[in-house]
Amino acid sequence: MKIHKPLIIANWKNHPASLREAKQLFDGVKRRTARMSKVSVVVCPPTLYLGMILSNYQGSSISLGAQDLFWESEGSHTGMTTPALLHENGVGYVIIGHSERRAAGETADEVAQKIQAARKAKLKVVLCVGERERDVEGVYLRVLEEQILQSLEGVSRQKVTTGFTVAYEPVWAIGKSAEDALDAHGVHQMVLFIKKILVKKYGKKAGMSIPILYGGSVEPSNAQELSSDAGVDGVLVGHASRVPEDFADIARSFS
Ligand code: PGA
Repeated sequence: MKIHKPLIIANWKNHPASLREAKQLFDGVKRRTARMSKVSVVVCPPTLYLGMILSNYQGSSISLGAQDLFWESEGSHTGMTTPALLHENGVGYVIIGHSERRAAGETADEVAQKIQAARKAKLKVVLCVGERERDVEGVYLRVLEEQILQSLEGVSRQKVTTGFTVAYEPVWAIGKSAEDALDAHGVHQMVLFIKKILVKKYGKKAGMSIPILYGGSVEPSNAQELSSDAGVDGVLVGHASRVPEDFADIARSFS
């Protein structure tokens, strides 16, 4: 039995280009998901739009998430978005360690520090992990295990038992189309593999309780299969989250 509602997260990345379009997009998502009481919907817009959404849509059933944060809470940090800024303003979630940030130079050590800081500020964390490529020998599994363990270095059991989710996003499947994504069976195998790593680190009860999402070209055409056969607790949606109809279709598959 699943304790949590499936988590359907929209990762808008750096889109759309204007405030007007961001409002239109949020309106569309809000309207189409309003009656879906069986899923939790989270929208992660660019930081610039968080304030507009927070002030225009107070009390909305959609939670808001940031796409990154800085690991220091105190002090002066020009240009950084600190955990306190997000939490104090009503942002509930934060994506940490997205592959596009890791590709821009973010280290696993920084990811671990960000998780600590976010949890300390009571932000819910979505930790992204995933291999860049696959090989027939299965080296990618070791690479993934190492990435997960390094990203969780020093993160206590207490910090992951609530408000913590892992999103498995194989980098090679991001930004393609549903046909290029990992199929539900393949996702299920990876979910089991990740659970095993989490159980080894945090013990059975805590390890098994951590929700696992899939991300990487989730579209309406593969969402149903992912919801029924992949053993995931939800999805992290990139390009399809910017088409309200598609995002709502995906959420509906899980509701
Ligand atoms: P995609 O992006 O759905 O466009 O593949 C997913 C992500 O990067 O989180």
